[in-house]
Amino acid sequence: MTKAVKQVGILGVGSYLPSKVLTNHDLEKMVDTTDEWIVQRTGIRTRHIAAPEQATSDLALIAARRALEDAGLTPNDIDLIIVATATPDYGVYPSTACLVQDRLWAQHAAAFDLSAGCTGFVYGVSVASQMIASGLYKKALVIGAETLSRILNWEDRNTCVLFGDGAGAAVLGEVEEGYGILGLDLGSDGAGGIHLYQPAGGSRRPASHETVDNKEHTVHMNGNEVFKFAVKVMGKTAKKSLEQAGLSNEDIDMLVPHQANIRIIQSAAKHFKMPMDKVWVNIDKYSNTSAACIPIALAEMQDQHAMKKGDNLLLVAFGAGLTWGSIVLKWAK
Ligand code: UT7
Repeated sequence: MTKAVKQVGILGVGSYLPSKVLTNHDLEKMVDTTDEWIVQRTGIRTRHIAAPEQATSDLALIAARRALEDAGLTPNDIDLIIVATATPDYGVYPSTACLVQDRLWAQHAAAFDLSAGCTGFVYGVSVASQMIASGLYKKALVIGAETLSRILNWEDRNTCVLFGDGAGAAVLGEVEEGYGILGLDLGSDGAGGIHLYQPAGGSRRPASHETVDNKEHTVHMNGNEVFKFAVKVMGKTAKKSLEQAGLSNEDIDMLVPHQANIRIIQSAAKHFKMPMDKVWVNIDKYSNTSAACIPIALAEMQDQHAMKKGDNLLLVAFGAGLTWGSIVLKWAK
């Protein structure tokens, strides 16, 4: 093992959204819904949908290549690849991270998938940063990638209007003293797992004709419970990571929340006393891309020059598990 480093941060970001766009008006023709309901209750107007031949690793690979290019690194520089996803290419194995490792030809990288629902990217960055800080690895790729369209019940208006496909990636490595990850917090409450789950396809209820007929391989969600949980945990986790960083709400230049519902985002902004121009919102365009939301937002913020070196970012996510997490990050690029 090499010498431990002190500060770990993001060296490069990239994202990929499939080209097909599904609008609320398209959904009006598929289920009993309206553009007005979806916009008012969620803030979503459009979402991207992967082409039939695209699996999660295809989306992840493009985002990863873009992040590497942004960091000025090659696949050979990468020691670790983590793919946070709820929609791996294969049900069991190989992991999507191994598929990305192969296609990137990242010859020196360990690779594994991470399951923490929509909090997956925040969990992944936390794990990778500690492995770098310990000196075990030097550079890691953390990818949030999803093809949620594959596990939605397109006849269930309660869920099918909410999610989209996409991928975002970040390259992590050592950064200057005082920059990078300043605080982080992770949490879970498995008792709430039943509120957002895929009933069949695992060891408890293996795939059968019956499970397929009953559409048990699709997302089942108790939206109201997840909503209440989200509003409760976002403030709590942010407080912890801010305390660890020795910062307060006022020091944050941009809140980058998980994009599940504009009303959840607005409630978080109110809680943090942050004006909405300091909150990154793209749910209108991409909907909820689960683990991909936050890295897609980071890549978009960089493309739009919405942040500069030294800005303090607060990343906050929640999701299936139930899980939650937050990271305070001083942008180092
Ligand atoms: O990343 C984590 C994953 N998920 C989330 O974060 C989701 C969190 N939850 C939410 O965002 C919201 O709870 C939803 C958007 C899912 C639902 O919004 P809501 O304001 O809590 O609506 P509701 O579930 O209380 O439903 C209100 C009504 C119901 O009709 P009735 O029973 O009052 O007649 C629903 O059947 O709206 C109906 N409804 C719809 N109507 C038109 C539900 N979905 C739709 C729809 N179009 N797509």
